[in-house]
Amino acid sequence: MTSTDRDSAHRAHLDRLQQAYAELLERSGFDAVLLYSGHARPHHGDDQESSFSAFGHFVHWTGAPHQQHDWLWIAPGTTPRWFYYAPTDFWHLPTPPPQGVRAECLDPTPLAQPTTAAALIGAHPRVAVLGDVPADAVPATATLNPPTLLHALDELRLYKDDYESDCLRLANRYALAGHAAAREAFADGASELDIQLAYLAATRQRESELAYQNIVGINAHAGTLHYQHYATTAPDTLRSLLVDAGHRHAGYCADITRTWAALDADPLFAPLIEGVTAFQQRLIAELAPGVDFVALHQRMHHYLGALLADTGVLRMSAEAAVTSGLTRAFCPHGLGHSLGVQVHDVGGRQHDASGAPLPPPTADPALRLTRTLAPGMVVTIEPGLYIIPFLLAPFRDGSERQAVDWDRVDRLADHGGIRIEDNVLITAEGHANLTSAPANDAR
Ligand code: GLY
Ligand code: MN
Ligand code: MN
Repeated sequence: MTSTDRDSAHRAHLDRLQQAYAELLERSGFDAVLLYSGHARPHHGDDQESSFSAFGHFVHWTGAPHQQHDWLWIAPGTTPRWFYYAPTDFWHLPTPPPQGVRAECLDPTPLAQPTTAAALIGAHPRVAVLGDVPADAVPATATLNPPTLLHALDELRLYKDDYESDCLRLANRYALAGHAAAREAFADGASELDIQLAYLAATRQRESELAYQNIVGINAHAGTLHYQHYATTAPDTLRSLLVDAGHRHAGYCADITRTWAALDADPLFAPLIEGVTAFQQRLIAELAPGVDFVALHQRMHHYLGALLADTGVLRMSAEAAVTSGLTRAFCPHGLGHSLGVQVHDVGGRQHDASGAPLPPPTADPALRLTRTLAPGMVVTIEPGLYIIPFLLAPFRDGSERQAVDWDRVDRLADHGGIRIEDNVLITAEGHANLTSAPANDAR
């Protein structure tokens, strides 16, 4: 997309939100909605704050995930007003006014100090206030976080327009540059912390701007799904690296995972990475409107069972690997989730805009997306294969003991695990993999 096309797509995105909000407000009996960005809280007894990410429905309009104390007033038939907090301050650089399409379409108004919902609502009747706002700060005439409206707005977030999918594609492009740098740093013997720093440098972002905390696991650390530390020295023996790391572009998140075998890896490990990558690609090839994501998740378990059987880790059929529960011990997370202005985006477990729950099967409590796929959805496809000793322990002592080659499992334990994750747009014709965007698409 050229920058002119992107601006047109951005205007179309904001027009779409205007129309959708107008319909939803009318349906739920509100004249206007006031969205709050939220703000960071200081640590208890301290003047330092935690890192902060703005409320998703606010970011959906503004693309500004780090704004604090901001409000967005939306009343159908009028230009939305963005009250952005820009104090005159000698401690911090004042927030610059919004620019470009945002400034054109969202009527920015600076706020010299934090303000309240009550002050902005004034005498307006029938206003919905959405966000992390204390109930006593909302006038009695307004309604705080009405669930029916929130469910409908979550549903709206599930379907991305051209502007949003382009933002996700660009976020992916930055993240891929980071993954290349991470791999290079690992090849040079870097520690987890140094790999993370190489990733941040290549993606041009600071840690507080990340879509989520990057996961950089060497060896057994790769087996902790959301491993949260960065070791400052590299181990003497290098077997594996798992990097699950993203980027945020105009509020939209990339969420990509790659796994690499190192020189000291067991000969079984690289074929397992190839196997997971191959069935991840098969799962992506199956993505299209009408596909039931729960069924696709179950297919992942069959592919995983087949890989474990083909490589001799299990001495049983793929079917038996699934029904015995072994594949779920090797991969306890879901196949993927919705992706947008939040890395685990909203709306994945509801039936439709009504918000009726669509829970995952009992065997798959971690599956975050249970929907039938439709054009505009963006999902991650992230199968995994891990050696998590406490999940495998019951099988070591149970009736399937003979069906597992424990010698192979133990040889793999110090490699932690494998995850391969791409971000995919569902289109009317099938799908487009945003993680392999065409190289000639101008930034
Ligand atoms: N990065 C977290 C996830 O893949 O869901
Ligand atoms: Mn991820
Ligand atoms: Mn993910």
